[in-house]
Amino acid sequence: MGIKGGFELLSSEPISDKGRKFLEIGLRQANRQESLIREILQAFSAELESFKSFHLDPEKSPDALQAAKEVLEALLPAFDINQVKLRIDGAVNQSRSWKVVGEKSRLERVISNLAENALRHSSANSTVTIRLIDESDRILVAIDDEGPGIAPELAGALFQKFAQGKKGRGKIGLGLYFCRITVEHWGGEIGHHPREEGGTRFWFRLPKPQGN
Ligand SMILES: Nc1ncnc2c1ncn2[C@@H]1O[C@H](COP(=O)(O)OP(=O)(O)OP(=O)(O)O)[C@@H](O)[C@H]1O
Ligand SMILES: [Mg+2]
Repeated sequence: MGIKGGFELLSSEPISDKGRKFLEIGLRQANRQESLIREILQAFSAELESFKSFHLDPEKSPDALQAAKEVLEALLPAFDINQVKLRIDGAVNQSRSWKVVGEKSRLERVISNLAENALRHSSANSTVTIRLIDESDRILVAIDDEGPGIAPELAGALFQKFAQGKKGRGKIGLGLYFCRITVEHWGGEIGHHPREEGGTRFWFRLPKPQGN
């Protein structure tokens, strides 16, 4: 706020055209910094909040297929612009329940973070596929891309705060961290491995709610 205020005051002073250009750059960067700080605070508050409130309502257990569909719909324009295909695996049985322990909006954010990362590492005309696999008492959700794979120097730290690669990085390196703390909080696990066909699989596994 102080930096932005300073810049704004400066803009009402007599200043050369060149100076004004620099001022605009400064203001733009200050705005960018503000939104980064906001995102960091959001991730930390989500972490604190989720540790505070473990009372998940089994009645409201989200359906992983439904969540994947919502994410698909929301991300389709971004995939289209980049000429990357986003699809749900045709082998997924659409008429059964895919309920998991969790909470709908956070589950969608987890899938969305993974799909966004996959998009950022996909070249035009490739495909990102979301798969759901029943593992008796758990459900595995996988996001498969056809990208270059995970940089080896990054592989061990990927789910830590602020871990980012050199290429295809997103905003601040909190996406996978958020995914991990959320999935683990619900009694699940998350990981990644290279795919035989090339590309990377990011997966997470969540328990089915009791009585489902
Ligand atoms: N599908 C993928 N293929 C290759 N590398 C990936 C993939 N997904 C993530 N990564 C690497 O992991 C890093 C960490 O991912 P993460 O989602 O935590 O951060 P980010 O995408 O860079 O930023 P943010 O999610 O905050 O916008 C990325 O910077 C990228 O280098
Ligand atoms: Mg990300």
